[in-house]
Amino acid sequence: MNSDLNVGLIGYGTVGKGVVKILEKNKSIAFRKSGVSIKVKSICDLNPIDRAELYVKNYMDVIKDPSIDIIVELIGGYEPARTVITEALKNGKNVVTANKAVLAKYWDEIFSLAQAKKRMVYFEASVGGVIPVIQGLNEGLAGNEIKKIKGILNGTTNFILSKMTNESMSYADALANAQKAGFAEANPTSDVKGFDTANKLAILSSIAWGSWIKVNDIRVKGIDQLDVEDVKITSDFGYVFKLIGSAIKTDKGLDLWVEPCLVDHHHFFANVHNEYNAIMITGDACDDVVFYGKGAGQLPAAAAVVSDIIDLSKYVSNGTAGLVQNVIYSKNKNIKFLSHGESKSDYYLRFTVVDKPGVLSKISGILGSYGVSIASLYQNDRNQDKKVSIIITTHRALSEHIETALKEIDKLSITKAKTVKIRIED
Ligand code: HSE
Repeated sequence: MNSDLNVGLIGYGTVGKGVVKILEKNKSIAFRKSGVSIKVKSICDLNPIDRAELYVKNYMDVIKDPSIDIIVELIGGYEPARTVITEALKNGKNVVTANKAVLAKYWDEIFSLAQAKKRMVYFEASVGGVIPVIQGLNEGLAGNEIKKIKGILNGTTNFILSKMTNESMSYADALANAQKAGFAEANPTSDVKGFDTANKLAILSSIAWGSWIKVNDIRVKGIDQLDVEDVKITSDFGYVFKLIGSAIKTDKGLDLWVEPCLVDHHHFFANVHNEYNAIMITGDACDDVVFYGKGAGQLPAAAAVVSDIIDLSKYVSNGTAGLVQNVIYSKNKNIKFLSHGESKSDYYLRFTVVDKPGVLSKISGILGSYGVSIASLYQNDRNQDKKVSIIITTHRALSEHIETALKEIDKLSITKAKTVKIRIED
């Protein structure tokens, strides 16, 4: 058993700096938990860093260093991050990464390689920041058949939606604040368009159902198209907007989507604010289990990376890392997926129509003809013969029925703008 363990850090941005800080500050705790003295031996970054004595310019020099046991990849993005991970495995290193994009896209390549090389890839920080949801799902809930995963999985969008709702901040100001606080990705498009949430949902689903679930299997809609008018109206109704990633096992297949949804202000998710994330996992035996905590930010993300390093260190130091894999999945599992039209939900619909007699009966008639049942109806203005908003909430309806009905309604001469359609989560 080795008493020293050397880490090579590749990518020294916000999270990388946090990892070094925590490993130094909590050195004795890390030693007590792992039984080894964990040391950052080298740090590689594009530019020279404040720790000149540890700086290495070329990542292959870190990967090839025989004294380094664990490579920590914190570059983000696809390349060279993917090459760093695969080269590290090929060179006999174990890997810790926070890179949800690379994991979601190259799941099969990375874990096949890890298995072939008898090495391990740890990735707790890839989903939910500091929340131990990977370990919780993979180990803590291992004895369950997973029925459902639902979560607020992106700190940046949750921060933006919280600020817009609670502080009437504009979308642009809220996004700028999230970037300043270090929550957002280098390119925040991936946050606001929902792809970051989709990557995380793909990772959780791949663990839950033992087969590689791809981002392409997930229907994704971001928060960038949200209209402030809907934020205002729905808040008066007691609803809150949340970007939700959802994976539900149905009899017909997995229903996977990422969408901004409305949740009642009493709902657990409604009280998850700012950069906090929450994930609810439902299993056949355990029922609902909720994971909650800071999903973005330097120290929360770095704390998850450090916990991976500590756990992995135990196996590396006694020579058992990779003998058994942490990610077990089947390549040939025939997973079926629910089509968009087969997905069911309650809906909020906002129609922009002329304000004259007979309009409501036309709308409700078309909805009724597709079997869509109305739960509530509201018109907030009187603007005779001109445009007004009519809000309808529906009982549970098939997405296909809602969409066909809306197509028909949007073609009517009484309709003055495309109807807004938002899921209401229960
Ligand atoms: N950009 C991500 C977020 C960081 O906002 O949640 C953590 O993955």
